[in-house]
Amino acid sequence: MSGSPFHLGFFTAFAPDEWNGPMASGGGDFWNGDFYVDIARDLERACFDFLLFEDAIAVPDSYGGSRDVYLEHAFVAPKHDPVPLTAVIGSHTRHLGVAATMSTTWNRPYSVARLASTIDSLTRGRFGWNLVTTAGAGIAENFGLDSYPGHDERYEIADEAVTIAKQLWNSWAPDAVVRDHDTGVYADPAKVHEINHTGKHFSSRGPLNTVRSPQGQPVLIQAGSSPAGRDFAAKHAECIVATERGPEAMKAFRDDIRRRLELAGREPDSCKVLYLVTPIVARTDAEARALYDSILATERSQLDILARMSGWTGHDLSVYDLDEPLPRIHTEGSQGILERLAQWGSGKTLRQCVVEMGFSSDSVDLIGSAETVADEMCAVMDEVGGDGYLIEAPGFQPSRAFVLSITDALVPALQRRARVRTAYSGPTLRDNLLAF
Ligand SMILES: Cc1cc2nc3c(=O)[nH]c(=O)nc-3n(C[C@H](O)[C@H](O)[C@H](O)COP(=O)(O)O)c2cc1C
Repeated sequence: MSGSPFHLGFFTAFAPDEWNGPMASGGGDFWNGDFYVDIARDLERACFDFLLFEDAIAVPDSYGGSRDVYLEHAFVAPKHDPVPLTAVIGSHTRHLGVAATMSTTWNRPYSVARLASTIDSLTRGRFGWNLVTTAGAGIAENFGLDSYPGHDERYEIADEAVTIAKQLWNSWAPDAVVRDHDTGVYADPAKVHEINHTGKHFSSRGPLNTVRSPQGQPVLIQAGSSPAGRDFAAKHAECIVATERGPEAMKAFRDDIRRRLELAGREPDSCKVLYLVTPIVARTDAEARALYDSILATERSQLDILARMSGWTGHDLSVYDLDEPLPRIHTEGSQGILERLAQWGSGKTLRQCVVEMGFSSDSVDLIGSAETVADEMCAVMDEVGGDGYLIEAPGFQPSRAFVLSITDALVPALQRRARVRTAYSGPTLRDNLLAF
């Protein structure tokens, strides 16, 4: 008997592709966005719900106290702003949702609300905002500050920023634009109102000066699994990027989120939990295994995880002995992902932990032919209860070949099992995300 359908999204960044690998995209001006437009079209052909771009706003210098490793390997830098790219992708696609990361710590709510509303109109209701509180070193200095707010305070700021943004999006009633040719009235002033928010971190009078967008507000996405992060998600998110490792932890996380949604007075199905995975698909299981080993066993992969984690936590992980367990350290950065890496109490060495991170933060390892991987994805979803997967490329550097292995081999296998969509449910991202 076939189980419930689940959702698919794709997670990447406006960052270099697999530029130095066997399936590199070749020369040309990579930064004009054409590469990501091609990927978006592939994903739309495969009926993905959305393409999500993460983001960073500094060149980190946490690992080894230097920017060298990041720049030499293109680990976190360079990275271009994904928000304009979502508008370009929106004009080359018709159904695919496009979502971008914007920090709640380093943007003013009015500007983000206005920008998100504009992109939602440009994409005809297919925009999503990935709400992040932005951890990591080197960022505050880019904004003229010596330090940044602590972990829980950043979530408090985020809550206020999103609360204001929601009020601003609602500052135009759905029928505020009348465009009455007889009276010559464009918008009814009685239906456009101030919000007059005066808060601890921000104040905003409103109204927004953009018209109400097709979705009213963008789909709100969240990543970050500390207790404060979960509460924030339960209050605002319609989709969560999850990194819990293994079906048991994945299920426990989803159950916990659904409980928190109920406590927050929301319907549990109004927020979808999508788990990060990097499926390595080849013609046979043996070929896929060989491909996986050739990518993951490299020192570069391990360095990638250590360098990224150093950036996310603000700790220089180069100073720790790889053959000892990581000592307990506290971070004001990403707490959920640090706990996931360290596996404190397990007695495992840092090297073992890094290898077990798989591809950075995957929930399950998916390696094999399309049929094998599809079976595994269905089995895991059945155990977890839903809601789907967010697929990322090895080392976070996609190639066209990787994307095609997903869209033209794996997805058809899932479609044959009637577990993923074969057509879009409605015109907006929210229509598709909440359809099942
Ligand atoms: C899978 C994943 C993706 C994330 N993507 C971004 C990102 O693109 N930009 C960013 O500034 N923060 C990003 N973050 C940081 C989180 O959104 C969050 O604000 C921070 O990690 C605190 O997480 P915590 O609640 O687990 O402590 C990401 C975190 C995770 C786990």
